[in-house]
Amino acid sequence: TRRIAVLASGRGSNLAALLAAFPAGDPRAEIALVISNREDALALDRAREAGLEAVYIPWPRGGRAAFEAAARELLEARGIDLLLLAGFMRLLSGEFVAPWRGRILNIHPSLLPLYPGLEAQRQALEAGATQTGCTVHFVDAGLDSGDPVLRKTVPILQGDTPEAVAARLLPAEHEAYPQAVRMVLAGLAFPVPTEEEGQAEFGAAFEGV
Ligand code: GAR
Repeated sequence: TRRIAVLASGRGSNLAALLAAFPAGDPRAEIALVISNREDALALDRAREAGLEAVYIPWPRGGRAAFEAAARELLEARGIDLLLLAGFMRLLSGEFVAPWRGRILNIHPSLLPLYPGLEAQRQALEAGATQTGCTVHFVDAGLDSGDPVLRKTVPILQGDTPEAVAARLLPAEHEAYPQAVRMVLAGLAFPVPTEEEGQAEFGAAFEGV
């Protein structure tokens, strides 16, 4: 069984979609752990309701090292294979993400590389875009900069507000994330290999799933 952990800061609707696709006890791949940097995150409640281990790890003002050390220890202790950021609103260090290369994903509410960072839907509106979407991508040391796995597109309509765009986008996110996870677990999607890595390394990462 491939063991998945989800990092979430808020509402957790993407977590819910992932839970529906990879329920605890599934022999192929299961969500085994949810971590949040916010004690009041709805995502933690959703995880507990599903009977999952749900852990609040504070992200202290001005320092992420303590969060990352605690998270790293927990992920190791629980034998996590794949790490999914779902509405996790903090930037992880290059040092933290490096060992997860090819095994850590994020979902972002724009067609990356367009509109990285905060308020992506507002950025799209302010740019006068007629469509936007979501991107599931591998996480690297940059901000929303890792190699994409898949995107889904939605239209932007006359008079749209950022909230209206976000609401239209959400169902697309809930489809895209589980789909992208399946591709990664099947070895069909991996980061562009460096010269030293070679593609075989990633293709074999989740053999047998
Ligand atoms: C989603 O729209 C996700 O794409 C976005 O936050 C929302 C979380 O919703 N993520 C980012 O903006 C990451 N920079 P959720 O908590 O209901 O899944």
